Amino acid sequence: MLDAVERKIEQYIQDLNDPEITALYRALPAGKRLRAKLILKIAGNGLSAVKTAAIVEMIHAASLLHDDVIDDADTRRAKPSLNALYGNKTAIMLGDVLYSKGFFELNRLGVPIAQMISNAVTQLSLGELKDVSLSSRFNTDRDAYLHMIYQKTASLMEASAGAAALLAGKPADAYMTYGRNLGIAFQMIDDILDITSDSETLGKPALHDYEEGKTTLPYIYLHEALDKAGQERLRSLHGKRLTDEEQAWIKDEMKEHEIIQKSFLEAQELAEEAISLMDNEGERALSSIAMAMIERDF
Ligand code: FPP
Ligand code: MG
Repeated sequence: MLDAVERKIEQYIQDLNDPEITALYRALPAGKRLRAKLILKIAGNGLSAVKTAAIVEMIHAASLLHDDVIDDADTRRAKPSLNALYGNKTAIMLGDVLYSKGFFELNRLGVPIAQMISNAVTQLSLGELKDVSLSSRFNTDRDAYLHMIYQKTASLMEASAGAAALLAGKPADAYMTYGRNLGIAFQMIDDILDITSDSETLGKPALHDYEEGKTTLPYIYLHEALDKAGQERLRSLHGKRLTDEEQAWIKDEMKEHEIIQKSFLEAQELAEEAISLMDNEGERALSSIAMAMIERDF
């Protein structure tokens, strides 16, 4: 089913008739195509669903190109990032091309779908901005973290599920809740894996989030669990390059206070809520997407 989406994206890129853009796009690893899978599983593989999935994946790819510049990331999906290979200017402009072509095509899908997706992209941008501003200090506010990951990650999954439901004549609200829960759980798992996976599995340095200043859910919970001296030590390591000993201390304290289990449980509960919502709609395939996401190790 996803082949049709890949072909549609290729066609949109070919429309631009620009060999440099075609070559740059082909240099990008495709990724999991989670949003496209979600759309096709809900709406089937008719032309409008394939177009919506292709557009959403182009916008998502654009957002990651910009995100890697913002995060100064050298790797993406275990390969050198496009900004590392060709520089920030090229990465930003390829993002702009994918993003604007996506919007051009989105306009042709009709107002309800266009509004649903474009509104989510505003949320993505607001979320990314919040991610950057929250990273400037040690954030202890769990609600601020949750709202930021909703905007940064879950809003596009919520809109993907909602747009697909509109296309299929299914109840948009239930599907949007499913997409939102899935998206928040997905980002929580991403943030947990940054701590638990080794750099080879992750395809990027481990504990990178904290070095970048991102106080993700496990750090917020660890801070709550530590005594004064521990809290001070944790804060002193925020946003700096960590030695092996400092990394080991953080991981040991997480283990001691069962922080990963606590954070994982929270993601699991959201996914289970999403699963039961979709079970009510008789959507078994959507349950398995949520299960696979919770069980992933990269
Ligand atoms: C990855 O987060 C980032 C996002 C999911 C959203 C990025 C959004 C923007 C840059 C704004 C929108 C821009 C356009 C062009 C549509 P992360 O850094 O936590 O995850 P990572 O580990 O995968 O980098
Ligand atoms: Mg990033």
